Amino acid sequence: MAKREVSALWVISVCLPVLTGAIDEAAGETPTRLFTETIAPILKSTARSSCVQCHLAAVDLKDYLLASHEKSFISLRDQGLVDLENPERSKILALIRKGDSDPDEDARLAHQKQRRAEHTALAAWIKACCGDHALRQAAKLAAEDYARPKRPERVIRHALKSRVIDSFIRNVWSHRMRCFPCHTPHEFDEKNHYEEYHQQFGERMNLFRKTPVATLQYLTERSREVTKGRLPLIHLQKPTKSLLVLKPASEKPKKDELGKLEEASSVEPVTHVGSLKIDVDDYRYKSFVTWIQDYQRTVHDAYASAEELPADNWYPTDQFVKIRRGPKDWEENVRVQLFVHAWNDAEQTWEADPIAFTQGQVKTRRKSLIGTLIVLAPKDAGSRKKLDSVEATLAPGKYLIKAYLDSKRRLDSDPTLLLGPEEFYGQAEVKARWRKGNRDAEVVRKELVTP
Ligand code: HEC
Ligand code: HEC
Repeated sequence: MAKREVSALWVISVCLPVLTGAIDEAAGETPTRLFTETIAPILKSTARSSCVQCHLAAVDLKDYLLASHEKSFISLRDQGLVDLENPERSKILALIRKGDSDPDEDARLAHQKQRRAEHTALAAWIKACCGDHALRQAAKLAAEDYARPKRPERVIRHALKSRVIDSFIRNVWSHRMRCFPCHTPHEFDEKNHYEEYHQQFGERMNLFRKTPVATLQYLTERSREVTKGRLPLIHLQKPTKSLLVLKPASEKPKKDELGKLEEASSVEPVTHVGSLKIDVDDYRYKSFVTWIQDYQRTVHDAYASAEELPADNWYPTDQFVKIRRGPKDWEENVRVQLFVHAWNDAEQTWEADPIAFTQGQVKTRRKSLIGTLIVLAPKDAGSRKKLDSVEATLAPGKYLIKAYLDSKRRLDSDPTLLLGPEEFYGQAEVKARWRKGNRDAEVVRKELVTP
């Protein structure tokens, strides 16, 4: 908002009680004029309102306004967002002020000016409207004519910055030690190897910053730069083409005639001086890609309904499951997903929803397979989990392992896919101890059968 408008507004709001009290007939004009001068510009602006401080998408102050000044007021009034007796206590104003109590000081300050301007404008206009007898008494709007966010509340909460950060911590940040010491300047590194890499390859080695928030900020800001000859760290159009996943899933560059490594490629085919650190079957690869996909859909406001939201509920464990001798008809290198179902004692049946899953590739002629379990917490639990409890565990007991075979190789093009009934292969029961570590993997000994 321009300076001139702010000062004009200040004058109007200060004079308002005098105006409404003194010249009653003229008072009716005031809300209209305020709306035209200070609210209509907010509505017309293509920029996001101050709500963006916490809501990356799905809701905006504009969602609560209509082109008509009367209808805007009536719509707010009928939705209970205006307090007719104490206009300054209106809920819509409280929503704007929410930004003042954000514990993230940088974010609070970054949006302060815009937030205050919006607050001043709405507070003055609402106050003027509440002083207008005709507007207070105006007939109700039909509910379908209300101005309100198009997205349901669950989608709005999913697009909260805090939720995105929480998901980033679980799905990306928690795996940073896989990138140690080359990209982790803030993790203890006795011999200071990071420095060597930094000297040789520069600031781009500084991938994992001091905090998850700083890391996320770096990744998103760097990804906005379009540089020829390199893919972005986070590719918002094609998540699997993000350097963040392509680099660690790639081999070293070739050596030249002198035995020196060629320069690494940051376009396809990508090469990575750090070599292969995350195989595409590794659950970390799924985690990274899942997070980028969700981030992309969130910021593009692509979720229309709660049903479209991803479960966002993966917690890596240190528990492994293994098939030592797979069925003979499994081909080498085919991918298998194993879903773990718990026993429900009260109902004497297997739980319909799996509690954990893993994915692996069939290896050697013995058709063996091993994978780390990822616990699937109940939907929506993700945003409530504490940041330090990123690792989950399964309790010992009776479980059903269901195997799904990717014989059509659907995972090649859609790496975060969870296979469904069409790919079901067979199931087996286990009495699992779920000890930790790869060497104590839980082995499925019974034959996989169809029920
Ligand atoms: C300081 C952060 C912050 C700001 C700024 C903020 N919100 Fe929110 N908003 C939240 C949080 C957190 C929730 C989730 C529910 C809760 O914890 O209150 C939420 C939830 C919502 C919801 C969903 C309803 C609900 O209660 O779950 C709506 C609608 C909403 N906000 C609108 C807005 C609008 C409009 C603005 C800007 C005028 C805004 N918010 C500014 C943090 C914020
Ligand atoms: C042994 C050291 C080492 C490890 C471990 C390592 N990298 Fe790297 N990485 C490098 C080096 C050296 C470069 C710079 C040369 C290149 O582009 O390959 C690099 C480059 C990158 C880049 C490109 C950065 C840019 O802006 O150009 C990304 C992204 C990346 N690595 C991701 C990862 C991730 C994610 C992990 C962990 C899962 C990882 N790396 C593990 C050494 C390593």
